[in-house]
Amino acid sequence: MIEEQQVLDAVNAAVKRKPASVDLLVDLGAADMAGVNALISARMQSPVAVIPALADHLINAGGKRLRPLLTVAAARLAGADNDGCLKLAAAVEFIHTATLLHDDVIDSSQLRRGKVAAHLIWGAPSSVLVGDYLFARAFELMVEAGSLRALDILAKAAGVISEGEVLQLTRAHDLNLSKDIYLEIIRAKTAELFAAAAEAGAVSAGASEEQVRAMRTYGLNLGLAFQLSDDALDYGGTTEDLGKNAGDDFREGKATLPLLLAIAATGPDESAFWERTVGRREQTEEDFQRARDLVRETGAGEATLEMAAGFAREAKTALGCMPAGEWRVALEELADFAVSRSA
Ligand code: IPE
Ligand code: IPE
Ligand code: MG
Ligand code: MG
Repeated sequence: MIEEQQVLDAVNAAVKRKPASVDLLVDLGAADMAGVNALISARMQSPVAVIPALADHLINAGGKRLRPLLTVAAARLAGADNDGCLKLAAAVEFIHTATLLHDDVIDSSQLRRGKVAAHLIWGAPSSVLVGDYLFARAFELMVEAGSLRALDILAKAAGVISEGEVLQLTRAHDLNLSKDIYLEIIRAKTAELFAAAAEAGAVSAGASEEQVRAMRTYGLNLGLAFQLSDDALDYGGTTEDLGKNAGDDFREGKATLPLLLAIAATGPDESAFWERTVGRREQTEEDFQRARDLVRETGAGEATLEMAAGFAREAKTALGCMPAGEWRVALEELADFAVSRSA
């Protein structure tokens, strides 16, 4: 009888919860994130007017704030009973924001968070320099947070992100990029910050070594799933939902997994098309439509999301040694969201 009731309760709970949403995480983290957002607003100020203007343009355009939420959630899940994680969480979002400013210059992206990219308004030099300013502010916050170990984790991650972005640059237009190098790129440019955000949160809460390792593993796998779905969405999503232009990766000739799988599946029939559009980057607007159709028809988008789902499962498994409860459920949902998201 008890078992039946438990099953019923579980089913009811599953039905009540919208699948693949981060509502629970956002709810649980609301008070902490109010503090994080206040820190972000205070620390992006500067008497040099372009700095707060440009930073505000991006920071107050929204953004999902997933990485600072991850820091807060890891700390709370590990039993944090004070606000020690808030400065680290704000630093994590500053690092993320800085990489977005730099990334949009590198990728010549025109739209970010539903708004015109900052470099198109203030120019690439200001965008890059304000990115550097936010990095500097992030380091101040990490020092103030007072954990040399958390500082070490996040400082290393900031270096690895740059390595990932540069590695990706050197491999653009490579139609034969291996899956392993692609995974190495997305681990470095995206998953390391998710891993560090979660690990630093756990460290700030004084978690056991086993739990710190678990949170790092969770973050790393979550980040891989997140970037795989981002790369699938570049072909399968809409500009309206994404707040950034679909097709940016294709136009830049970025060798992402959906593209690599589509190239492999279409064989010699389309090799001239891929060679021209990706290899030499000679494109018309209609070419992206064709690429998008080929990614869909070959199942390359689906296969990319399946791989993302595999990493999301790994992420959830890693949570096994963390205390059961709402925070853990919220992080399980975040792993599903990373795969099924449209924005
Ligand atoms: C964008 O990250 C960069 C990637 C790693 C794909 P998010 O999708 O988390 O961006 P915001 O912060 O919500 O805008
Ligand atoms: C995301 O790179 C990683 C970083 C910003 C460091 P992308 O270039 O794939 O992200 P989007 O698509 O511009 O958000
Ligand atoms: Mg980009
Ligand atoms: Mg992308």
